[in-house]
Amino acid sequence: MAKIFKNPHLIDYFVVDKGVDNNNYRSFVKEYEDGKVIYFPNLRPDINFEFWSSIDTDKYPNLKKLSVILKDFPEFKNNSEKAISGLNLESDLKSKIINNINKIFDSILPAYCGIFKEYKFVKCKTVWRLNVTNNENMHIDSYKEKNPYHFARMFINLDNQPRIWKTSLTFKQIFEMRSIDFTNDELINTKDTKFWNEIAVKTFGNSPAEWWDNYPRHVIYFDPGDVWTVDSRQIAHQIFYGRRALSIDFFVEKEDMYDSDFYYLNILKNLRKNELSKRNVIT
Ligand SMILES: [Fe+2]
Repeated sequence: MAKIFKNPHLIDYFVVDKGVDNNNYRSFVKEYEDGKVIYFPNLRPDINFEFWSSIDTDKYPNLKKLSVILKDFPEFKNNSEKAISGLNLESDLKSKIINNINKIFDSILPAYCGIFKEYKFVKCKTVWRLNVTNNENMHIDSYKEKNPYHFARMFINLDNQPRIWKTSLTFKQIFEMRSIDFTNDELINTKDTKFWNEIAVKTFGNSPAEWWDNYPRHVIYFDPGDVWTVDSRQIAHQIFYGRRALSIDFFVEKEDMYDSDFYYLNILKNLRKNELSKRNVIT
């Protein structure tokens, strides 16, 4: 069971749902879009922790970040064989990876689809993060180019050691703190992606070397096998320490969200509009 150390100086956006297990789940779309970090202590994917933790990614650097795409909803054929076919690995290791990927997909995807029941997925991507991460910088996810999709993001700790996360401010809080830096003209005319990026980078720095920000943090120790979901564009987060993990990132048209005001750039658009109206600026 994860240990969550909540900081009283931050919003408590955690939801711990003990009612969800591999065969019993409900939709969490509303809570997810509303920026909650949702943890499912009874959801247990079929994970061979010894196998995943023992993969030597220094020897096989191509395995540090392995993308596997799924197709044909709801059968979900995955391309793991193709994804690793070109990698320089022993054939025994290749088949073990494929078997272990399939085992995890079989045991988690029914619950994933239930948790995000209302979503129609247009692109189904998973990322097998098999590298060691230490002291990542605090950040909200941002992109150089506009990402046109909303995503349904689930994380799973595949390792036999805890994955330690810290989380901090919400995007709304960050905007409210930073909006003073922007003139009326910038609030009206700066492109969404540029605006998002500037706010993100100016608040927390841009690299793991820039770790000295003073913002408060919640601390979470996710145990081996733990499963959680969060829209990582809405909540500032940092992997403080982690080894092997899976992220499931299936994409959704923003028009198909429960409330498209929670699409990340719409959140920004509405915050800009509110700020301009506080300043009595008519656009
Ligand atoms: Fe992130």
